[in-house]
Amino acid sequence: MQAQRVLDELARHQLVDGYPLVVDLEKSEGSWIHDAASGERYLDGFTCFASMPLGYNHPGMREPEFLKSLTNAALCNVSNADLYSREMAQFVDTFATHATPEGYCHHFWIAGGGLAVANAMKAAFDWKARLLGRNNFEDDVNDLVIVHFKQAFHGRTGYTMSVTNTIPDKVGLFPKFNWPRITNPAIEFDADGNMMPGFETTEAQAIAELDAVFAEGSPTQNKVAAILIEPMQGEGGDNHFRTEFLAKLREYADKHQCLLIFDEVQTGFFGSGKPWLWQHHGVAPDVVAFGKKAQVCGIYANGRMDEIEHNVFRRSSRINSTWGGNLVDMVRSRRYMELIVEDGLCDHILDIGQHVIDGMRSLAKSTGAFHNVRGVGSLIAVTFEHAEARDSLVRDMFNHKVIVLPCGERSMRFRLPLVMTREESDKLLNAVEASTQRMAAV
Ligand SMILES: Cc1ncc(COP(=O)(O)O)c(C=O)c1O
Repeated sequence: MQAQRVLDELARHQLVDGYPLVVDLEKSEGSWIHDAASGERYLDGFTCFASMPLGYNHPGMREPEFLKSLTNAALCNVSNADLYSREMAQFVDTFATHATPEGYCHHFWIAGGGLAVANAMKAAFDWKARLLGRNNFEDDVNDLVIVHFKQAFHGRTGYTMSVTNTIPDKVGLFPKFNWPRITNPAIEFDADGNMMPGFETTEAQAIAELDAVFAEGSPTQNKVAAILIEPMQGEGGDNHFRTEFLAKLREYADKHQCLLIFDEVQTGFFGSGKPWLWQHHGVAPDVVAFGKKAQVCGIYANGRMDEIEHNVFRRSSRINSTWGGNLVDMVRSRRYMELIVEDGLCDHILDIGQHVIDGMRSLAKSTGAFHNVRGVGSLIAVTFEHAEARDSLVRDMFNHKVIVLPCGERSMRFRLPLVMTREESDKLLNAVEASTQRMAAV
């Protein structure tokens, strides 16, 4: 099909509200998306919403042995949950070796980040129900809840819609559960990157709200199955939290016998320069949901699950799906992990990320266009005074062939490819500066 016809052809059959370009899967390279329709290229500061770790057509993805595995997996879409292959075992072993931190003995694979989170919630519900002595499958467990946070985004599946609360369009008019929603004590940073005062008040409020939730039952009788949080809220505005606050959640989860679940669908799989963002804080959760860059979505969980003998990781069919992830994704993910380690991309993206953060801080000072520059590794954001200013800048940058993303009410985020070069990161900074100047001239 001619590239120029793609958007019209799609629009005849479905909603086409994405970017007005046609990605060329062969010509796109590294941090550059080639538009097959116009022949122009775009600098990629969005990485398919943080889901493309190595950009396009990394030379390591052309290795013959890998391509052979990939083709074999693509030709036979086996149900990995019940029919095992060498390709799957190689992936699981690589993930457990390179990505899973020590102390997490359980894994579960599925396609889709929202379903990963939903299954983390299911694991917690089953665990808590049994802890409360409700072991019979006919027992009523409708009083169990998931404590979650304002401005959280956890997906758009049945369960996750009850905890996602960014903009109402995403979950409005669908029936949901009414579970406890806690103030999110996001921290802000000054022009030099120091934490600003103010967090004491919001943290105290969040803790008071948590206390109120747990006051409703004794530590052994409350109905909280889990505290669920993104260690940094992405869609909700790149909201960072203090290590001390995350540690407090760990303390509450231990004291009140519920699980601590981190949703690392957006932040995880090496995007922060470590396998998982939580490792920067050193606060270990019980369950982690992952997806996006990992290609295969799912959860890993620690030995706390085994306080319950028949937990969902041990008992058949409690959490499952036909494909149990996707074998092509597993083969691709395995190769990504090998390349990330071989090419030292964790150190590289920490370095590039810091360069971009430093550059954005200088621009914040010189232009005054935005503030609260924050981030780590490939995950970087700034905030504007008004949503309109943010929207205009994002639009103008796109018109000048640089793709970046909005987040929250008035923030802009970058999700950089881990392979971004220093020169490309300078191009990104120059593009922000040029756009800011154009906006100021309007
Ligand atoms: C933190 C977080 N959790 C869950 C999801 C849902 O993932 P998916 O869109 O793959 O279902 C997202 C998607 O943006 C996310 O950012």
